[in-house]
Amino acid sequence: MNKGYLFERYALNRFLTLKNRIVMAPMTRNMADDEWVPTEATQHYYARRAEAGLIITEGTIIRPDGQGYTHVPGIYTKKQIAEWGRVTSAVHAKGGLIFSQIWHVGRVTHPHFLNGALPLAPSAIPMTGAVKRSAHLQHGQSRAVTVEEIKGLIESFKMAAENAMEAGFDGIELHGANGYLIDQFLHYHTNHRTDAYGGSPENLARFALEVVAACGEAIGYERVGLRLSPGAYLNEIVGDKRDGKVFHYLLKQLSTLALAYVHTGNFDDTRTFPELDDQTMTDFIRAHYQGNVIANGGYDLEKARLGMEANRFDLVAIGRPFIANPNFIELAKHQLPMHTYEVSMLDTLY
Ligand code: PHB
Repeated sequence: MNKGYLFERYALNRFLTLKNRIVMAPMTRNMADDEWVPTEATQHYYARRAEAGLIITEGTIIRPDGQGYTHVPGIYTKKQIAEWGRVTSAVHAKGGLIFSQIWHVGRVTHPHFLNGALPLAPSAIPMTGAVKRSAHLQHGQSRAVTVEEIKGLIESFKMAAENAMEAGFDGIELHGANGYLIDQFLHYHTNHRTDAYGGSPENLARFALEVVAACGEAIGYERVGLRLSPGAYLNEIVGDKRDGKVFHYLLKQLSTLALAYVHTGNFDDTRTFPELDDQTMTDFIRAHYQGNVIANGGYDLEKARLGMEANRFDLVAIGRPFIANPNFIELAKHQLPMHTYEVSMLDTLY
């Protein structure tokens, strides 16, 4: 196989150079302890995968009301920061780079996780269906945040970014994708606001841009990545033809900042979206964003190589194959057989 650029070094910016162009995608593992603290198993899990060009951690919540699933870690208590510090040390000891994906799920949760309170959202648009991995819980009503609460959320993202730096991470990825809080602001279906945070592309993009600015000013834009799903496909966000204009505007604004990258949040990057001029999410991002682009969504090595050669993206994020094969990079480099991912592999944090 022609390996193309896959195993070449890639300088994201003046601070961060990846040893190859394969990123470990963020993946929920539900293995934190009862105080939402990563464990010793978490250290070994990520350290085993340190040959990736960059590891992006599982979604890590910025504060308690950002919690959507059981045993997801946080990065807001002293204990969480200290234990994440052990994870980053273990990865760095093996020569890896690791970003913390910081996350608030917005409406994609349940009062069960919030001491009985309603989930926070841009607008009170109810969700239906069962909470993932807690099938006895049904999604439902949420509550529209006030402008004052929006300022508080931005502050919480900033604090989480600072906490991540204290824990020794090389940077953070803002989870702005897949129907969670930031993404809820970015789509018309979930944002019916009539104040400065809704109603026009500029207003729908405002929350995302304010979070990016708060984190970028706090830890340096070069250490901030952003994951986006311009197409609606997960967590009951319904596509609206106006969404493309929001993302077009957002990506144009982001192009003026020295962000580490923009990363597609997606399970199938062959799918095209009418609201994105019938393009895939990654092609749409590439068309409107000037910086580094990480593609994601069902890529194998051959598709990744071809996409890089065609200059459709710079890096690829690989998810499930990294769970099935901790030594994915070595196997890929030497074209050795790999294990196929199976759901049962989620039962342990190997
Ligand atoms: C999940 O836990 O299933 C999950 C979390 C974050 C995502 C997508 C899926 O972005």
